[in-house]
Amino acid sequence: MTDFAATKAQFHLPDGIIYLDGNSLGPLPKAAAERARRVIEKEWGDLLIRAWNQAGWMDQPRRVGDRIAGLIGAPPGAVVMGDTLSIKMYQALASALEMRPGRRVILSDSGNFPSDLYMADGLIRSLGRAHVLKIVEPEAVEDAIDDSLAALMLTHVDYGTGLMHDMARLTAKAQARGALAIWDLAHSAGAVPVDLAGCGADFAAGCTYKYLNGGPGAPAFIYVRPDHFEEARPALSGWLGHEAPFAFDLDYRPARGVERMRVGTPSVVQMSILETALDIWDHVDMAGLRARSIELTELFIREVEARCPELSLSSPRDAKMRGSQVSFRFAQGYALMQALIARGVIGDFRAPDRMRFGFAPLYIDASDVRRAVETLAEILSERAWDRPEYLRRETVT
Ligand SMILES: Cc1ncc(COP(=O)(O)O)c(C=O)c1O
Repeated sequence: MTDFAATKAQFHLPDGIIYLDGNSLGPLPKAAAERARRVIEKEWGDLLIRAWNQAGWMDQPRRVGDRIAGLIGAPPGAVVMGDTLSIKMYQALASALEMRPGRRVILSDSGNFPSDLYMADGLIRSLGRAHVLKIVEPEAVEDAIDDSLAALMLTHVDYGTGLMHDMARLTAKAQARGALAIWDLAHSAGAVPVDLAGCGADFAAGCTYKYLNGGPGAPAFIYVRPDHFEEARPALSGWLGHEAPFAFDLDYRPARGVERMRVGTPSVVQMSILETALDIWDHVDMAGLRARSIELTELFIREVEARCPELSLSSPRDAKMRGSQVSFRFAQGYALMQALIARGVIGDFRAPDRMRFGFAPLYIDASDVRRAVETLAEILSERAWDRPEYLRRETVT
């Protein structure tokens, strides 16, 4: 059983703030600052270049990857860290297309995060082999899987609505039709139980600055199913994905395992912060986390619908089909979110009219949810959102 009061105590949560945006940027783990100081002063400062060996910097992408593997149902040695999620999705898709040379279609859905679609588009242009990116509504994905597909590329939990796809079912159907299944776990890792090995997923990638609390700019991860290691050739063939980087061969030979997906020098300071943030997960059981997350999202939906009838739910009502976030629509959603933030309840906004709220049980409890809804209801009853300063759009919404 997870002690959620104990996990909450491990985060720096500013006084008076209820933080419902961990689905965008997780809060600061208290131990992170000390770890960053140690890496900067002791490792970089005192060890200098020796730290690559003596402080374990060179093995860190694989070591941290193994810890993430434990949270997403992957075996040790199948996950490696580095770069950003957009880049990892590009790598996964490039390898998948090369593994299905006779096929031209990539299937995705309209709920996918745009960056994944943009990366697919860029890859298609570079390949110049007439691949097609087919985008259907989330509900139509299953029926659109056919024998033309090279790859099914989906975000498991929709960033906008929180809709969660059935990974096992869609992976099985794609594979039965001869395609490969690639999953974006940005809103899944640390939010819902994921069983990559059990589902037989071919590739997966995710970021670590959301529910895993690695901080802004924390590195992404990529998973390659172990029986694809030999066949999955990296499109971004950087020196640290080489079998022997320090042989400095002029020819590229990919590393044997998932390390072939490494590209260049890792972001050591940021990855060290992530490594420390992952310590919190050592005492968390995923089934308990999921049960608590469902309790919190159900409570939020119930309270908002009872007290704020102006808002309409845009997330699935059935908890089984929802990740750990809830979105509500409101025509002036941006202004309302700004008013809410001004009163200490932080969520975010996604165009055109969606207010998003993330529920991370590691540091959010039922009393936070109740207070958040009270504040929302107050603002609506006072029309306090209707002020010019709340209508002015900032760069990051
Ligand atoms: C579902 C999803 N995919 C991809 C990305 C892009 O990630 P990155 O900025 O790390 O490349 C994001 C960013 O929030 C995301 O939410």
